[in-house]
Amino acid sequence: MFYILKLGGKRLRPALTLLSSELFGGTYSRAMDAAMAVEYFHNFSLIHDDIMDEAPLRRGKTTVHKKWDLNTGILSGDAMLIESYRFLEVYPPEVFRELTRVFSETAVQVCEGQQYDMDFETRDDVTVPEYLRMIEYKTAVLVGAAVKMGAITAGASEGDQQKIYDFGLNLGIAFQLQDDYLDAFGDPKKFGKQVGGDIIENKKTYLYLKALELGDDSQGRELKDLFSIQPKKADKKIDRVKEIYSQTGATADTKKAISDYTARAFSCLKALDLPEEKKEILMDFGKDLMGRKV
Ligand code: IPE
Ligand code: IPE
Ligand code: MG
Ligand code: MG
Ligand code: MG
Repeated sequence: MFYILKLGGKRLRPALTLLSSELFGGTYSRAMDAAMAVEYFHNFSLIHDDIMDEAPLRRGKTTVHKKWDLNTGILSGDAMLIESYRFLEVYPPEVFRELTRVFSETAVQVCEGQQYDMDFETRDDVTVPEYLRMIEYKTAVLVGAAVKMGAITAGASEGDQQKIYDFGLNLGIAFQLQDDYLDAFGDPKKFGKQVGGDIIENKKTYLYLKALELGDDSQGRELKDLFSIQPKKADKKIDRVKEIYSQTGATADTKKAISDYTARAFSCLKALDLPEEKKEILMDFGKDLMGRKV
């Protein structure tokens, strides 16, 4: 548990919880335990995700299940999930109830999204709407919950809670699209994860689905063939798949989708009746995420 937490990461979800609470007139100190809950939950999900994805690297270091073993990964993940709820014990009963309601609903959705992700590895008929639902569940709902929980600690109205949740949800979709992009095209020295990992695991990402949609018959056939094998040496597969992603225009389309979902997030923010300068902090945060390399 301390190993993965000490590796740091961007900590964008807890930062969003604190920023959201301040947006609605709360204080960051009151939101801190909710922010901790969100980050512990996130780290739990990463340990288990790395088991499911057979990932060797996380935050530039060996993954927990590779450094120790599978059981250590399962159990330390479980323990972090439990610890995440304990941070919420400090809140008064009514706030506690509201927080655990979103938190638990989110947690179940994350499991559901992760199951779709696993199922899609071996399916060859995944559609773009199915992919979007999958990333909404595995990733975006937690970003939505992060900002909503900040809003709850600040005593925001239900309407405002919903608007900020929708901001987080759309930002989360953009975030996962960017994660998929970086997984293929990121710089191995900066990314901190195995570049090409999604291609090795035959992940049906937006890049993949768009390449099938936009490519000609032979590109489509080749891509499907490449995604039906798991070669011992993956370098050639990764290079060729990336070529197809770029030649078909799938890479450019993914970039566009990232900025479209970020723009959607911003329009949710604009719907909030709050001073512009307060909203700008979150807009800048969203813009920074679009240009990230990690
Ligand atoms: C990784 O999340 C998992 C995804 C949902 C893409 P982050 O990219 O936020 O990971 P850290 O916490 O910064 O390492
Ligand atoms: C992770 O999706 C989503 C969750 C951890 C729930 P990914 O599998 O794409 O995340 P990374 O790329 O390993 O961080
Ligand atoms: Mg993964
Ligand atoms: Mg995964
Ligand atoms: Mg990824």
